[in-house]
Amino acid sequence: MRKAIKIGLSLFATTALWTSGALGAGGPKPAAEPKAKTIKELVARYDSSGCIECHEEINDQWANSLHSHSILGTPRTAPTIITAIEVGLKNFPYSGVKDDKDITVEHLRMCTKCHLPQLDDATDDVAREIVATIKGWQKAKKDGDDAKAEELEATIASLNINCRICHNRMAIIHKWADGYPQPDTVYGDKDGDHEDEKFPKMAKAPALGESIFCGQCHGTGPNFELAHPSQCATLYGSYLFAYTAEGGHESCQDCHMKKSGLGHDMQSYNSEVMAKMSMDVEVDGRSLFWRKNSAEGVIPMGIINVELTNKAGHTIPDG
Ligand code: HEC
Ligand code: HEC
Ligand code: HEC
Ligand code: HEC
Ligand code: HEC
Repeated sequence: MRKAIKIGLSLFATTALWTSGALGAGGPKPAAEPKAKTIKELVARYDSSGCIECHEEINDQWANSLHSHSILGTPRTAPTIITAIEVGLKNFPYSGVKDDKDITVEHLRMCTKCHLPQLDDATDDVAREIVATIKGWQKAKKDGDDAKAEELEATIASLNINCRICHNRMAIIHKWADGYPQPDTVYGDKDGDHEDEKFPKMAKAPALGESIFCGQCHGTGPNFELAHPSQCATLYGSYLFAYTAEGGHESCQDCHMKKSGLGHDMQSYNSEVMAKMSMDVEVDGRSLFWRKNSAEGVIPMGIINVELTNKAGHTIPDG
């Protein structure tokens, strides 16, 4: 019975994808820009500092989220990228990486596909510069050179998922139907003129408000399209196959941006509101007396039943 329902749903989803073409707000594929040759150039290409002027509150929210430092992480991500290179890439016989100078964008893609998708717009030199910067930062911290560590940390943090990544680069998912993001347009929920000089237009991205938008980076399982599939976040998989399959119908945006009241400050259990939304806890306790043997007499004993119900739209924790 349940199988039949799932088939029905997936047919419906396919139809929905198909008809969304009518809403298309993108356009023809823009000519590729020359690749960025340094971290500075790459950061400048996606510079979102101009958005702050008019969207200050959203910017403050975003700045508090992990999206604003998605290579640095908590800061656990940057060191883990180095571990993946030293323990993984350099030991794999066919990776082509024996030394840092052999590292290319394709190699880092096993992490940057989601942590920094715009690295695809940069040369292999930028991939190597990122690795050198993280290593320099680690060394400066070890040497107690605070000024240098701080400076390099700021460079690492400048590599992130910002306004232009979500509202332009990643905004349109089905590009053959809905078109490619255009270089003069911010994508949101409305069509019309936009006050920004660089982005004088705004247009509707059909799926920006839907879970599939977040699913682009929040993972369904191994990334099979890569020469060496990696696996990190898989939460979108559990959202699709456990939560929605069991009748859950809220989107990532519903819970994380709206119900939470956090807007662009998307958070996990580290935030009090998310922690409160995450679980129902039922505790039932009773006490008994147990006569173990006559020498010890009566022993008091407690029995506690704890029932935890996950109210998040996916497995927790992830990753
Ligand atoms: C499928 C997309 C994807 C890929 C590929 C990916 N990650 Fe992640 N990673 C995420 C997301 C999304 C999160 C945060 C959310 C979560 O844990 O569900 C995350 C979280 C992390 C965290 C914990 C966050 C923190 O700040 O402490 C680390 C560390 C990490 N990733 C390192 C890596 C490394 C290293 C690679 C490459 C070997 C990699 N990831 C590949 C999407 C990905
Ligand atoms: C991780 C992706 C992501 C990033 C980064 C991001 N946004 Fe958004 N933004 C969204 C999504 C998704 C929505 C739509 C929410 C919905 O419709 O449910 C949205 C909505 C908006 C809206 C319209 C609704 C509102 O809240 O007023 C504006 C304006 C906006 N974003 C501006 C920005 C600016 C400016 C930045 C950078 C400081 C930014 N966004 C960064 C994903 C992102
Ligand atoms: C000079 C002011 C100004 C700047 C700079 C600016 N915006 Fe806006 N933006 C606005 C205003 C005002 C609106 C609302 C327009 C409306 O609702 O008619 C808006 C709307 C939007 C929307 C659509 C919101 C929706 O509800 O669908 C998005 C997305 C957005 N801006 C993103 C950005 C991003 C990204 C940047 C930086 C690249 C940026 N804006 C820079 C003033 C600005
Ligand atoms: C371009 C890729 C990308 C998109 C799109 C994206 N995320 Fe993320 N998100 C990440 C990465 C990468 C991290 C982890 C960064 C780190 O810590 O290293 C993350 C972190 C998070 C976290 C914090 C996780 C934690 O452990 O604290 C939440 C919550 C989150 N994202 C929710 C969302 C939601 C909701 C959407 C859609 C509205 C979304 N993300 C869209 C890549 C993305
Ligand atoms: C029904 C509400 C709900 C929906 C739908 C939902 N989330 Fe969550 N999510 C939560 C709550 C509550 C937490 C906090 C629990 C926790 O982190 O342990 C959370 C935690 C997370 C985390 C942190 C995971 C971790 O390791 O702690 C990420 C990342 C995340 N959500 C992303 C998403 C994305 C992406 C989607 C859509 C595919 C989504 N969420 C859909 C409620 C929801």
